[in-house]
Amino acid sequence: MKRPPRKGAPIPNRTAIDTRLPADHFARTLRADVAEGLTAEPKKLSPKWFYDAHGSVLFDRITRLPEYYPARAERMVLRAHAEEIARHTGARTLIELGSGSSEKTRLLIDALTAGGTLKLYAPLDVSETALENAAESLCRDYPDLRVEATVADFGTDLQLPDAGPRLVAFLGSTLGNLDTDQRAAFLARTRATLTREDDALLLGVDLVKDPKTLIRAYDDAQGVTAAFNKNLLRVLNRELDADFDPGAFDHRAVWNAEAERMEMHLRARVTHTVKIPTLDMTVDFTRGEDLCTEISVKFRQEPLELSLIHTPSPRDRQKSRMPSSA
Ligand code: AVJ
Repeated sequence: MKRPPRKGAPIPNRTAIDTRLPADHFARTLRADVAEGLTAEPKKLSPKWFYDAHGSVLFDRITRLPEYYPARAERMVLRAHAEEIARHTGARTLIELGSGSSEKTRLLIDALTAGGTLKLYAPLDVSETALENAAESLCRDYPDLRVEATVADFGTDLQLPDAGPRLVAFLGSTLGNLDTDQRAAFLARTRATLTREDDALLLGVDLVKDPKTLIRAYDDAQGVTAAFNKNLLRVLNRELDADFDPGAFDHRAVWNAEAERMEMHLRARVTHTVKIPTLDMTVDFTRGEDLCTEISVKFRQEPLELSLIHTPSPRDRQKSRMPSSA
């Protein structure tokens, strides 16, 4: 977040990190996001601000918790199907949106390397530290791979590297962090960047299941998820000079049955006021008031597949603009 501008600053030999966005991009979007979210009714914040260096470490710990089944489940699916994915796509370029530590991605990289097609891995993430660590360790372990990392959020317009076949991976059910409108916009934008016949999208999502299992996954016994949730307040304190007291809030994991999504909330334990000098703003919380910090939509396979199929491609749009022959 607070970092010097370093366009294309090289780490070891075959890696490059491109911050692409103006140096103050994150600071500005954070301010806009917080100003909007904390004046909204009910109050909300975007989950992308969880991932400062400490938040990324906490998230890594979440993925190793016994309760957090999605990480293990996705690893199993990838392990079972990586070879088939590699054969099917023959990808030369692997682009990963929201790559984090790139740990699970190694299963794909292994299979694509064994298939002899992969030349370039292009991860994109909001966390520069996560990208640096991932790029460095991948570079060490895959001597023939180029790594070109981009610090950005997957909501920004993507410019994919040219060399195809390209495989865009969007894993970890990060798609579930988007609401219905954001999701439609994201899918349309992603579809529009997949311009080549041999481009492919690999989407990893979590499915609707027993609410008990879901709630346990988002409210673990060790309290790692609670710490992860409250870390958001520390990010605001540091970046915006705010005076949130993490102890004044309770972590809550809620199943929203109507929207079929998990939600993480921070519930105010007492009525109090928070100052955010950088935004020239004070925020009143009443006792028991919820601040929503994350939605995590759980999907049903068929409707999701249909929405993917019905996301128009640029070519379809051109077709529909052509005058009918009547
Ligand atoms: C993997 C980022 C989508 O919604 O499951 C884990 C993050 N939040 N525990 C998810 C998360 C709480 C997460 N994503």
